[in-house]
Amino acid sequence: MSDKNIKYVIVTGGSKGLGLAIVKALADDGYYVIAASRTRTESIDKLIQDGGSISFEELDLKNSEEIHGWVKRIIGRYGVPYALINNAAIAHDGVLGTMHESQIEEVLRVNVFSAILLTKYISRAMLVRRRGRIVNISSIIASTGYNGLSVYAASKAALNGFTKSLARELGRLNITVNSIAPGYMETDMSSGLDEMQLEQIQRRSALRRLAKTDEVASAVQYLISEKASAITGTIITIDAGNTA
Ligand SMILES: NC(=O)c1ccc[n+]([C@@H]2O[C@H](COP(=O)([O-])OP(=O)(O)OC[C@H]3O[C@@H](n4cnc5c(N)ncnc54)[C@H](OP(=O)(O)O)[C@@H]3O)[C@@H](O)[C@H]2O)c1
Repeated sequence: MSDKNIKYVIVTGGSKGLGLAIVKALADDGYYVIAASRTRTESIDKLIQDGGSISFEELDLKNSEEIHGWVKRIIGRYGVPYALINNAAIAHDGVLGTMHESQIEEVLRVNVFSAILLTKYISRAMLVRRRGRIVNISSIIASTGYNGLSVYAASKAALNGFTKSLARELGRLNITVNSIAPGYMETDMSSGLDEMQLEQIQRRSALRRLAKTDEVASAVQYLISEKASAITGTIITIDAGNTA
């Protein structure tokens, strides 16, 4: 990233699925985008090769103790980010009673604890600039519930609570904090759903279809744009009317 005037954005889980769509949309908007996840995928490589103003940085949110050092390295290399998109997450589905403690711990660590730590260190750097945008990717499941996803739901509800209080904390410093709650999208995360479950979700949605990753990515584009300067502490649902 040579031009210091270009705003740069960190997207966790930017290697595939919704994160990849967000990376592409933000790079198209002229931001320099850091896609961070464990695996450098062919898809992210292709975006970089096609000339996108994008870099990939390895990050494992399971290793919470490494997050502070990671943020220091990233800020040393690229400067203070304009925005952080907390998109990376995992979902171990299963009935709570039979779920391994290690799986419960992993979901909460990756989806909540590490996202909070990342936000702590990055927002601290944003304070000096008195500007910044934080977008947390939640889920409609935080408020609707879904059989077999109680821990995942807890993690997403935690992010919504985090969003609202942090918005109050950072508002006077001109940093906005919002959540986006997508409905079901076809990505690796939802690949466990069978045809029947997908059809049922579509049938129950006002628009009779699923939301697409690009449609959720456009909400991120909007939230970090100047047009959304007065929006903070909100949860925007994008679910093709599944919860309407
Ligand atoms: N798909 C849906 O129906 C749906 C619905 C509502 C909300 N969401 C939310 O949307 C967001 C994106 O989900 P998706 O559907 O795009 O899922 P996905 O295709 O499974 O992608 C998840 C992303 O998170 C990254 N990730 C997972 N574990 C990580 C770790 N330990 N450290 C760093 N990165 C990690 C993955 O990269 P690596 O594996 O390379 O680390 C990947 O880039 C999530 O917050 C999810 O909860 C999804």
